Amino acid sequence: MRTAIITGVSTGLGEALAARLLAQDYEVLGVGRRPSPKLGGARFTFARADLAQLDSLEAALTRAFAAIAARKPSQVCLINNAATVGGVGTLGTLGGAAIAADLAVNLAAPVIAADCFCRSFAGPDCEPRIVNVSSGAAQAPIAGASLYSIAKAGLEMLTRALAAEHDERSFGAITLRPGIIDTPMQQAMRGQPAARLPVVAMFRDFHASGRLVAPAEVAAKVVARLVEGEIDNGRTYTYAEL
Ligand SMILES: NC(=O)c1ccc[n+]([C@@H]2O[C@H](COP(=O)([O-])OP(=O)(O)OC[C@H]3O[C@@H](n4cnc5c(N)ncnc54)[C@H](OP(=O)(O)O)[C@@H]3O)[C@@H](O)[C@H]2O)c1
Repeated sequence: MRTAIITGVSTGLGEALAARLLAQDYEVLGVGRRPSPKLGGARFTFARADLAQLDSLEAALTRAFAAIAARKPSQVCLINNAATVGGVGTLGTLGGAAIAADLAVNLAAPVIAADCFCRSFAGPDCEPRIVNVSSGAAQAPIAGASLYSIAKAGLEMLTRALAAEHDERSFGAITLRPGIIDTPMQQAMRGQPAARLPVVAMFRDFHASGRLVAPAEVAAKVVARLVEGEIDNGRTYTYAEL
């Protein structure tokens, strides 16, 4: 039994990854606030969790991961996919509550999920693998999306820290920068006022110039190359390489 655990399966890339993996006979656990009506069947389960609510997250994940571990999967892959752009705005306008909420979903929750995953799936038998979905924003700041960039830079360090601590041959942790995808996140970015997101024209141009890639197309490549293929522990993969 091959299993994938994906955060944020209601829309966008997470939904497309879940659909692709289900079509390829994986068992899929979705984690998030709501499932997608497009996902279902006997091999799909859903653990309801708001990734901003860090106090209750560990218990919810521990329960869901234990149920998977009890079925002794031959392969298990965690895809830290969920993210929010709710904290868009320039530094000086954000406020503590928005900062805490944004970093909870985009950084603390994936660290908690990775910590819980490593505890739940120790040992070589299940080939544990973690894919952290990052962004080019981890490398280059985007004016008005500093919280997103800060979190993604931290997420990329999570990958490197996992690789430094787990050098077993069966374990793999990687970062994915998935390119620009036609999802509700892009829609949210191009709908921002320039006062909050000074580079909003770039996001409008991604859409107008037809550069956004369909989520299903990205998901097919991610599954073939990064879930099923050989990977280098600790490495960052860009969409162009898939
Ligand atoms: N789209 C792009 O061009 C692009 C580019 C670079 C990187 N990425 C990365 O790719 C990944 C997927 O992005 P996407 O474009 O598919 O985004 P999306 O369509 O906005 O989907 C984000 C997912 O995260 C979930 N989520 C957000 N806040 C949550 C919370 N508090 N608790 C639980 N789940 C929550 C959403 O669920 P709800 O329905 O509950 O909100 C949704 O399922 C993200 O890590 C993103 O940073 C995207």
